[in-house]
Amino acid sequence: MSVTKTHYDTMPDGRDVFLYTIENNNGVSAGIITRGATLNSFVCPDRDGVMGDIIVGFDNILGHINSGTYTGEIIGQYANRIAGGKFTLSGKEYNVTKNEKGITCLHGGGEYSSALWKAIIVDDDAVEFSYHSPDGEQGFPGNVDAKVTYVLTDRNELEIHYEAVTDAETVINMTNHAYFNLGTTANGTILDHELMLNCDFFTPTDENSIPTGEIRPVENTAFDFREFKKIGRDIGENDPQLVQCRGYDHNFCVNGESGTLRLVGKARDEKSGRKLEVLSDLPGVQLYTGNFMDGEPGKGGIGLDKNFGFCLETQYYPDTPNHPSFPQCIFQKGEKFKSLTIFKV
Ligand code: BGC
Repeated sequence: MSVTKTHYDTMPDGRDVFLYTIENNNGVSAGIITRGATLNSFVCPDRDGVMGDIIVGFDNILGHINSGTYTGEIIGQYANRIAGGKFTLSGKEYNVTKNEKGITCLHGGGEYSSALWKAIIVDDDAVEFSYHSPDGEQGFPGNVDAKVTYVLTDRNELEIHYEAVTDAETVINMTNHAYFNLGTTANGTILDHELMLNCDFFTPTDENSIPTGEIRPVENTAFDFREFKKIGRDIGENDPQLVQCRGYDHNFCVNGESGTLRLVGKARDEKSGRKLEVLSDLPGVQLYTGNFMDGEPGKGGIGLDKNFGFCLETQYYPDTPNHPSFPQCIFQKGEKFKSLTIFKV
């Protein structure tokens, strides 16, 4: 087990960005950069032992800055969307940044994901990243102290521990926005990857990708991943939900009890033999199939075209503050948001 710190790149304003690489005794490694506490690489063997990086991303900081994909970044204060950039807490309305077409708030306005986080090596297998979000940032109430700790075990599990404490009532929903390609991007899209999701229901969305409030069974729909199937098998179906999002970009309701660590899903790539298992204690997961990737150059200069990666963003459901029937993520003064997601290869 080891953690090494190296200089990754320099921000256009001169600030340094560092890369922390955690390597386990199997030679599996995870690289995290301080901008956005971004998971920049996750290197693991294929069936022949050939190492490959399964995180879709960039070779330098400008790639990250110029991209609108949020790849690998930690998202806060509220992952996914808030309708109309508005919500009400204890009778007071809050207006947050409408960074998506001037209509919705997406990924908290991008503040957590673009910030430079402080990092400390806490053990030979763990690095802790912290970020202070001042009261009113992007319109969200509360001074929030957020902490994300990445731990890589010898069981090839990358644990992401989230903690955030607020000094005023607020909403908190944090995630990691990694795009995975188990064959590495050199081998094209993820449409042939097989995916299984431990989810009987999903939340359909309107034309702005805001949940309508319906909790729809996946049964007999293209959203049924209860048994392994190729991501590309039904993605082109003429289901209005798929057509409006150009593929999967939906929250699935994870079976079992929220607050309990449980299986979210598994993916496997027949060609490389690589596998991924995702566990979380949150109520939902966003399956996003890179529908809006538009060919920007990624690692090694490879164009990141549509469907070059898939995300499993563990989360509270999108727009929860405006849906009292969804599991809530309101935190009071002194309360802590605490959550764990595991990516196991
Ligand atoms: C959203 C997509 C969005 C993407 C941005 C995902 O979490 O659901 O709609 O395009 O983030 O990279």
